[in-house]
Amino acid sequence: MLVRLGLLLLHSSTIFSFFLNSSPTSQSRQHLERITSVGPRPVGSQENEVLTVGYLLKQIENIRLETAAGPHQLTVDVQRPTGSFSIDFLGGFTSFYDRVTNIAVRLEPKGGTQHLMLANCHFDSVANSPGASDDAVSCAVMLEVLHSLANQSSPLHHGVIFLFNGAEENILQASHGFITQHPWAKQVRAFINLEAAGVGGKEVVFQTGPENPWLVQAYVHAAKHPFASVVGQEVFQSGIIPSDTDFRIYRDFGNIPGIDLAFIENGFIYHTKYDTANRILTDSIQRAGDNILAVLKYLVMSEKLADSSEYRHGNMVFFDLLGVVVVAYPARVGTILNYMVATATFLYLAKKASLPGNGDLACATGVAVLSWFVTLLSVLIVALLVTLLGHSMFWYNHFYASICLYGAAATGKMILIHTLAKNLYYGVSDGLGDLYFDVSLLLWCCSLVWLTQQGLCSAYVPMLMVAFPLATRLLLAKEFKHRGASVKYSVLYLLGLALPYLHFMFLIWVVFEIFTPIMGRSGTEIPPEVVLATLVTLATIFLSSFFLHFIYLVRSTKWILAGLGSVFIIMFLLVSCGLFFPYSGSPDSPRPKRVFLQHTTRTFHNLQGQVESRDSGLWINSFDYTAIQHITPHIPEINDSIRTRCREDRPFCGYPWFLPVKFLSKKNWYLPASEVSPSSPLEFSLLSREETSWGTVKMTFSAKGPSHMSLYLMPHRGANLSTWSFGDGTPQFDLSGEYFVFYSHGLNAPTWTFWFEIQVLVSFWALRSTSCHF
Ligand SMILES: *[C@@H]1O[C@H](CO)[C@@H](O)[C@H](O)[C@H]1NC(C)=O
Ligand SMILES: *[C@@H]1O[C@H](CO)[C@@H](O)[C@H](O)[C@H]1NC(C)=O
Ligand SMILES: *[C@@H]1O[C@H](CO)[C@@H](O)[C@H](O)[C@H]1NC(C)=O
Repeated sequence: MLVRLGLLLLHSSTIFSFFLNSSPTSQSRQHLERITSVGPRPVGSQENEVLTVGYLLKQIENIRLETAAGPHQLTVDVQRPTGSFSIDFLGGFTSFYDRVTNIAVRLEPKGGTQHLMLANCHFDSVANSPGASDDAVSCAVMLEVLHSLANQSSPLHHGVIFLFNGAEENILQASHGFITQHPWAKQVRAFINLEAAGVGGKEVVFQTGPENPWLVQAYVHAAKHPFASVVGQEVFQSGIIPSDTDFRIYRDFGNIPGIDLAFIENGFIYHTKYDTANRILTDSIQRAGDNILAVLKYLVMSEKLADSSEYRHGNMVFFDLLGVVVVAYPARVGTILNYMVATATFLYLAKKASLPGNGDLACATGVAVLSWFVTLLSVLIVALLVTLLGHSMFWYNHFYASICLYGAAATGKMILIHTLAKNLYYGVSDGLGDLYFDVSLLLWCCSLVWLTQQGLCSAYVPMLMVAFPLATRLLLAKEFKHRGASVKYSVLYLLGLALPYLHFMFLIWVVFEIFTPIMGRSGTEIPPEVVLATLVTLATIFLSSFFLHFIYLVRSTKWILAGLGSVFIIMFLLVSCGLFFPYSGSPDSPRPKRVFLQHTTRTFHNLQGQVESRDSGLWINSFDYTAIQHITPHIPEINDSIRTRCREDRPFCGYPWFLPVKFLSKKNWYLPASEVSPSSPLEFSLLSREETSWGTVKMTFSAKGPSHMSLYLMPHRGANLSTWSFGDGTPQFDLSGEYFVFYSHGLNAPTWTFWFEIQVLVSFWALRSTSCHF
């Protein structure tokens, strides 16, 4: 499910290589090309269930034969689980799967083993994408890691299950089938999950745990090209990123700790037809293979795997420094360190305050905080203007344009406010530079204390942002006293700040790398200008903090203000003229606009079961804020006269949502079209209706149809859904109080039957279901 970063170029030369000769990498590439060559692999398709399964089984058999003489044994089991579960992703969400496919490969020393690692990838894809990065490349790498481990001449300590799972895109079904039903699942002690939120680049560790610090330690010790930060984990687990992985299933249904790894670069083409094998660099494959093999090997040899419960407690603070080393220490140590740094800072500030001739720190802090708010407000006004002028997302294909526009506005505004404060409020005064340095220190220190108190491991970021500047400043105090902000002072100061700043810039870069593409698929309701302008402003505020005091040290800011002002005005004019078109079809770096089109036939029945109305059309759903603005000029039929309104009396507005996100995509369109003639039409019927002795009405239904169906339920006012045949029996409703059941099946699935019980509070009820075909 996420970046080539300038800083990470350090990695483009793979100096250490587990794939010592380059052949496994080229083998992996071959697998990748073969798997993606069949095209999209949605669950239930011949491509997924027959061709890909066949290819994987054949490769695994080859590995088994080749390594049969060695110290390991390979057992292959094709599982076709049926099951159901609810998760609270996107409000509430229930999933039912029938005969989806798992290929589980158990590698262990001859004679068997008690404890297993699990490595998970998925080979299915969304319906419109060859799914090279999501997630065929991971399966290709896993095949070669399997090959390499199986071929080792010294036996492994524990075993590994390589799970090639064939139903992830239908919201995590196959992993659920494995972890809740497979006989081997009970022996799994920890897992590694390989995912994609982008196409290629480096794979980042974006969550670990829960708890179990030994897993992070294993990654720290073993990974050849570490790329990880606990900030990512805490952001991801806060739920801001609308995405989920099999990690959740293993954690919640298997109670197993693990490591979630994902490619994050170029999320613009994630889940599109452009996610092709040729866009995945050999470097990415090599890196992923190096890391996964090393980490798996380490874990499989580790004593901790056998009795992980003993090492279960506590979290780890971890982050990589420029991709070279990972720093990791227990959260408890982090807390002590953070409070020590905070105490040192407060002592320094208290000592400064007790000396005569120092400015008013409280007042200066007020000026700084005020400057933030005024800056944010001004930039948001610019963002609003851009939105009103109809140029939302101008940066989608020209990212630098957003930095030039919003970055220049934010930087200019900050400098302007402080220049005004210096000239009008303070008049001429010495020591202001010193004072504003202390302000930044104080503010970072406050956020350090606050985050630490919240128990967040991410507090290491403000800790670095306090410790390094403070130490640098103390070391340079003499130089500054003698010569002021001399060139020598400035250079040494910059050097002292370099490490925390580079790390921080790198985190900011990851944030943009992730959130910029997400704005292309976050629905029609969240204005992307507000999000991006806020991110740019926050980045400016954070990054400017330890440079703010230079404004008070330099003689004049006239020229820099004039420069920033010109950049801003020119950019604003260019944006207003519509020079930056958000999307691009260029083959090298496509930036497609995401639109969801569903050819739909809808039949509505009244409460007596008679057909009330029937219509057919193309249901059009924009994934982003610009809606159909750029489409109408090319396809005049798609215009605002065919806009639909939500019918509150129908489940999910009466439209076949693929995911229960109607609150995110309120603008949609319905263009009349001919009737749908699906190859496997839906047969839906009520099998029985009975009144239970506990006062509910139980209804049983059957549905036979295509591999993907959805059931939408909205009890009529006065009726309650009290229990059903899905999950643990407790109906889980979404944010709008409706129920969404996602169904999918593999090959040869029987008719789907399900039931639910309705408690009639008043004397009527209603139900409707729709299926979607595509
Ligand atoms: C497997 O082991 C043999 C003998 O040690 C070696 O020649 C071969 O290259 C190995 N293959 C892989 C894929 O590591
Ligand atoms: C909008 O679409 C409708 C339906 O296709 C069409 O009849 C109408 O002419 C379109 N309006 C414009 C302004 O193109
Ligand atoms: C009906 O369901 C709603 C929401 O689930 C709940 O708040 C209410 O208490 C239920 N009423 C009865 C009588 O069970």
